[in-house]
Amino acid sequence: MSGDPPPLDLLRDADTFWAAVATRLPDVARALYARYPVVPRSYVEAYFLSFTRDHPGDPRALLYLDSELGAPARGTALLQALGSVGVKVVGARCLDIGCSNGGLLLAAAASGARRCVGVEISVERLESAHRLTQGRGIELVPLDVVREELPEGYGPFDVIFCFDVLEHVSSAAATLAFIKRHLQAGRRSFSFLSLFNPRHPDNVAAEPHYGVPGMILLPQDAARELWTEVRGAFGSTLDYEVADWTPYGALVDMLGRIGLTSSPFVDSLPVLDRSRPFWAGFRKRIADLEARVADGVRGLGARPASKELLLESLRRYCGRYLQDHKAVSAGARDEQLLALYLDYYSHTIQLVLRHAEPSAG
Ligand SMILES: C[S@@+](CC[C@H](N)C(=O)[O-])C[C@H]1O[C@@H](n2cnc3c(N)ncnc32)[C@H](O)[C@@H]1O
Repeated sequence: MSGDPPPLDLLRDADTFWAAVATRLPDVARALYARYPVVPRSYVEAYFLSFTRDHPGDPRALLYLDSELGAPARGTALLQALGSVGVKVVGARCLDIGCSNGGLLLAAAASGARRCVGVEISVERLESAHRLTQGRGIELVPLDVVREELPEGYGPFDVIFCFDVLEHVSSAAATLAFIKRHLQAGRRSFSFLSLFNPRHPDNVAAEPHYGVPGMILLPQDAARELWTEVRGAFGSTLDYEVADWTPYGALVDMLGRIGLTSSPFVDSLPVLDRSRPFWAGFRKRIADLEARVADGVRGLGARPASKELLLESLRRYCGRYLQDHKAVSAGARDEQLLALYLDYYSHTIQLVLRHAEPSAG
């Protein structure tokens, strides 16, 4: 009944969700409306119905639904977190690279941004963005940031977001160069970059988009091949849509080469507290991880050659993890501690970028 509280428990886990989709579809819709109150109901319904039709039974359905429908709320939370350290969008001209359905731009507009532009390579994603942001003054431009330029009249921007995009583009370096070209000169302008950390043990244990153990350690072609081999067993029909991963150190080098500085968006106090070393117990942790991931790999329904490649990549990762940890002790400099933390302990790499030359600002 419509007066009853929304049955949010139907979104508890994938099994409950799919069972309810089969027998209590209107209740699932009500639960989704309640969980995503800022998203128009027509949008929730259209996305939910197309997802359940195209990916029936997918065990990661709730993750994908949240990724789509939770975007505006995540955008608001991100802007609040940035605002709390003085990085604000009020009055700013904002660009969102790989804007998908435009959720972050909706949040930026609601937070007082002066202009909000989204660029996106995917026609389907842009259609979703048009539907979600209708009537909110948000400009959407079809664009491949690796190969194309913004049309006349767009840019420079005071704020450029690049959230969960760098691991999906065909060239991370070209995307960072695009940011550099379109970021307004000046210390008040910034770009916010966020990507999954390919060296975080949890992401090694289960690749964040697809959940396959060890897969994040593989180069793009090998990972795509592996996904094709195992996706049936993972109950998924999704295509592989990740490019090459960029670890923290390589990212900072790339940024330095093109004249952008980066400040990690982390609370550095606990990281630098030598009396409670965040890396304590690392030997046991990595040994446990290696055993767990190796077990997972052996259990995959993949070709023996693919499993061997995964195990070899895992051995190399664990070797590097140990080496990098041994190189750092309580006496290490702050930058070294921060680099170790960002390399292995932060689920996502989040950086605030600015032009390096003060004259550019
Ligand atoms: C994982 S989604 C992230 C979407 C959004 N930024 C978010 O945080 O929810 C990556 C997005 O980047 C877009 N994308 C990938 N390559 C691109 C490119 N070369 N130019 C513009 N957009 C691109 C994809 O179509 C997709 O919508």
